[in-house]
Amino acid sequence: MLLIVAFFLFSCQKESVVGIETYPEVEALISQMTLEEKVGQTAQITLDVLIKGPSRYKSTEPFTLDEEMLEKAINKYHIGSVLNTANTKALSVEKWHDIVTAIQNAALENETKIPVLYGIDAIHGATYTADATFFPQQIAQAATWNPTLVYEAGRITAYETRASAIPWNFSPVLDLGKDPRWPRIWETYGEDPYLCSVMGAEAVKGYQGDDLASPTSVAACLKHFFAYGSNTGKDRTPLEISEVALREYYLPAFEAAIEAGAASIMVNSGLINGVPVHANKTLLTDLLKEEMGFDGLVVTDWADIENIHNRDRVADSHKEAIKLAINAGIDMSMIPYKFERYCDNLIALVKEGEVSMERLDDAVRRTLNLKYKLGLFETPVTNYKDYPEFGSDAFEKSAYHTADEAITLLKNGKNILPLKKGQRILVAGPNANNMRTLNGGWTYSWQGEKTDLFAERYHTIFEAIQNEFGKDKVSYFAGVEYDMTGGYINEVNIDIPGAVRAAKNADVLVLCLGENSYTEKPGDLHDLMISDNQEELALALAKTGKPVVLVLNEGRPRIIRNFVKEMDAVVQTYLGGNFAGDALADILSGDVNPSGKLPYTYPMYSNTLVPYNHKPSEESTTQDGAYDYGGGFFPQYEFGFGLSYATFAYSDLEVSKNNFSGKEELTVSVKVKNTGKVTGKEVVQLYSSDLYASISPDMKRLRAFEKIELQPGEAKTVSFTISAEDLSFINAQYERVTEPGVFELMVEKMKVKVSYQ
Ligand code: BGC
Repeated sequence: MLLIVAFFLFSCQKESVVGIETYPEVEALISQMTLEEKVGQTAQITLDVLIKGPSRYKSTEPFTLDEEMLEKAINKYHIGSVLNTANTKALSVEKWHDIVTAIQNAALENETKIPVLYGIDAIHGATYTADATFFPQQIAQAATWNPTLVYEAGRITAYETRASAIPWNFSPVLDLGKDPRWPRIWETYGEDPYLCSVMGAEAVKGYQGDDLASPTSVAACLKHFFAYGSNTGKDRTPLEISEVALREYYLPAFEAAIEAGAASIMVNSGLINGVPVHANKTLLTDLLKEEMGFDGLVVTDWADIENIHNRDRVADSHKEAIKLAINAGIDMSMIPYKFERYCDNLIALVKEGEVSMERLDDAVRRTLNLKYKLGLFETPVTNYKDYPEFGSDAFEKSAYHTADEAITLLKNGKNILPLKKGQRILVAGPNANNMRTLNGGWTYSWQGEKTDLFAERYHTIFEAIQNEFGKDKVSYFAGVEYDMTGGYINEVNIDIPGAVRAAKNADVLVLCLGENSYTEKPGDLHDLMISDNQEELALALAKTGKPVVLVLNEGRPRIIRNFVKEMDAVVQTYLGGNFAGDALADILSGDVNPSGKLPYTYPMYSNTLVPYNHKPSEESTTQDGAYDYGGGFFPQYEFGFGLSYATFAYSDLEVSKNNFSGKEELTVSVKVKNTGKVTGKEVVQLYSSDLYASISPDMKRLRAFEKIELQPGEAKTVSFTISAEDLSFINAQYERVTEPGVFELMVEKMKVKVSYQ
C-alpha cells in the first residue's frame, strides 16, 4: 500500500527526533519488532562475511555462500543490509542473482519477513557486474557540461544495477573536487558548487527515475556528507574550515540533490574542526535532518563508527563510539565485518537508556521506508532475464557519446589537430595500451586493477588509433610502463632511448601520459608533478623534432609545466571509460569535434593550488604602485576552458535592466557565432562578480551555462534568467543574502554591470 501518512515525533531532551513521512505498513512492522530485530535493521555487512573463505575478510573463489554465517547474520542478528562484492571483483548477472536470492530467502525466513537492502558502488556503470556498460567517471561526465548525458548515464547505470539484483547505489559523489592532490577528485563533478549541483541533481533523477519502485530505478546515495576531501590533499585527513565556507561552497550540491529527491546519504569519513563527522550531531541531525529536512536514510562510510574509537580517539570504546554515532543521527552502520560487536553494543545501549528507543525507531523507520519505497517487500530480487537492454549497443553508444563530449582539447598549436590520414603515427607512453588507466578505480574492482581481465573487447588508445588510421600506419612503443602487479605508482620497463628510436619512423607522435588507476587512501600522493620518467619521455620525444600530441589520461591534473611548451597539442581524456579510446581516435581524426571544458582549474605549480572562485587577495593586486601583495593565480588552464576545431565569436552581451531589486529577475543574453569551418558545440558560461560585499567576494562565480551546437556560419542568441538569489552568498551570520550593490555579469571576455537595491 503506497498511501503515505504524516507521522510526527517531537523533540525530546537528550536527542531530537525528527518527524518524517512514513507508511502504515512500516509503522505496523516497527510496533511489532523486538529490540534485536530493530538493531539488525541498522546494521550493514560486506559480502565477504557471507562467503566461504579462510576468514571473514577474505573469500575463496569460486564464491560459495557460507550457510552457517548467513544464518547467524541474517536470522540470528537480523542484519538489514549487505554491500559490496567479495574479493572486490565483478560478478556475472547470473551470479549476482544467485547471491542476492539466497540472502533474501534467508531474510524472508525471519518472522518479520523484512528483505535485505543490498547496496553497491555503481559509480560510472555497474562497477561490479561483468559486461556492464562503463561510462566516463564523474569528473569526465562533468567535463561534458551536458546535464542530459549525466541523466542518461544515471538511467542506464540504474537499469544495469537492477539487472544485477541490486537496488541501492552509493552514488553520486557531491564532494567538491577542489584540491587537485586528492585521490578522489575524479569521483567528483569538479571544483564548482553550481556545476556540482546541476550534475548531481541530474544523476539523482537518472538513478531514481519517476518512481523508486520501478524495477529500473535504484535509490541514490549522496556522498560524502559533507566537505570531504578538501584542503589537506590526502584522503581521510582532518579539515579545519569556517561555517561560512561550509555553507557557501560545500552544502549547495547536497541541497540540490535532496531537492531532486535523493533517498539516502553517506557520511564523510573525515574530521571537520576536530570532530569526526560520524559523531557530529550538529551536522547530521540539526543541519541535515532538521534544517535541510532530509527524511531519507543516513548511512556511515566504511567502518566509520569503529574509526571514532580506533582512529580518531574521540570515544574510549567501541560501545561509546556507537552511542555517539547513533545519537548524532546515523541510521545505518556500514560495520562492515564485526557485526556481533556492533549489534550487541547497540542492544545494550538501548537497554541502558543511552540510546533512546525513539532514536532507534527513527533509524529503523528510515531504513524500512526505503525498502518499502523500492518495492522490496513485493519484489525482493529482480531478475536479469527481465533486462534485455543490459550491455546493449544503445547503452554503449551513450557511454561512447559521453566520452566524446568529455574529452577536452587544451592546446592545438598550428592547428596540428585533426591529424591528416596517411601519416605514420607512433603511440607511446604508459597510458597508451591498457583499459585500466582509461577507466580508473571502481571498475570491475575497487582499485581498478582487474580491468584488463574484464575489458578485453574494448579498445585501448593504441588499438582505437589503429582502427581509425590503419594498422599499417600506427605503431606502439611504451617507453615507460606502469607496474600492473603492484601499487599504482611504480613504473617499469623504462626505455626512453627505445621510444626515441621508434619515433624516427613516424611522422607524428601521440604521447599518452597520466596516472595508473587508484582510489581512496591507496591513491594518496607525495608530489603532484607528473612522474620523472614521464617528463623525461616527453622531453626526449619532443627533442626528435616530430610533432607531439600529448594525451592526458589521469584522475587528477598532474603538473606538466616542465614540458607542456614542447607539446604541439594537448588533449585531456580524464578517465573516459571503456569507450574513451574510440572517442579520442575520432577526435584525433576530426570525425568528432571536441567540446569538453575543464571542470577544474588545471594547476601550473604545486604550491599554487587555487580554484577559479578564489578571493581577490589570491590574485596579484596593485597597491597604488607601492607593493604587490598578490598571492598569484597562475593556472596552466582555467576552469571552463576547452578548445574546438571550430571558432566561436561572442557579441551583444545584453541585460534586460541595469537596476533591479527584490525578487525581480534579469535576462542576460549573448550572441554566439560559429566562425569556423566545421560544426561545433560550445558551452556558453555566465559568471558573476560581486564588486564589494561584507565577506570578501570571490573573483567570479559560475551562475549558469548552456551547451549549444552551431553549424559553420550559424549564430544563436543564448538567454539566461538570473535572480537576486543566484547572486547571493552566505554572510557572517550564516544567512544567505544578496547585499545591495554592483555586480558584474560576464560571458567569455564581455562584461556588463548591474545594480541591485
Ligand atoms: C568509500 C565510499 C564507498 C564505501 C563502500 C568507502 O571506503 O569511501 O565511497 O561507498 O567504501 O564501498
